[in-house]
Amino acid sequence: MTRAFEALLADIRSAFDAYPNLARFCPIPDDLRATSVSAFDHPAARLMLADPMDDAVLPDLRDHLKAASPHAKWRETYKGTAASPDFLARFACYCIVGAGGAWISDHWAAYVVYMPPDLDYPRHEHPAEEIYFIVAGRAEFAQGSEPYHTAEAGSIVYHSSGTPHATRTTDHSMLALVFWRNHFETAPVWSSDAVFT
Ligand SMILES: [Fe+2]
Repeated sequence: MTRAFEALLADIRSAFDAYPNLARFCPIPDDLRATSVSAFDHPAARLMLADPMDDAVLPDLRDHLKAASPHAKWRETYKGTAASPDFLARFACYCIVGAGGAWISDHWAAYVVYMPPDLDYPRHEHPAEEIYFIVAGRAEFAQGSEPYHTAEAGSIVYHSSGTPHATRTTDHSMLALVFWRNHFETAPVWSSDAVFT
């Protein structure tokens, strides 16, 4: 367990104190078990590290998400799928709690997601319920048949189980903590109406 991950967990606890809706979705579990992480690099990590993200609502959390980056197992969730080369190169995600993360819990999983400007995350779905907590920047979200709406730093966006949803950035990047509860072991898949740009 690196100090970077320990600092990150302390930041997440602080975030739950500052934003009670996080704890309403998934209370901090009492069964967190530390695991060793097999670090795995991804080119998108460099994009996150180079981005100052000056509007972060929790600057310590932003900084510790960056500090843990070299120790993280960066994910290739959509490698080998219909995802565009641009998406595969620039979409950044690593697990904090869950498979491949620094801790395991039976109750939920947590990830960091970073999207640089002008990136389209096409419609996808998963049986887990999900919230995005926007730490810095902004992005547009759409779920089901609803139109896109903008969420800014400090916002929480909820996605229900099995409902297709999409995220896109325009002139700003987005840094988010993403929490999954229920059926969080099942990976996401592209929705049948996903459009790959
Ligand atoms: Fe999702």
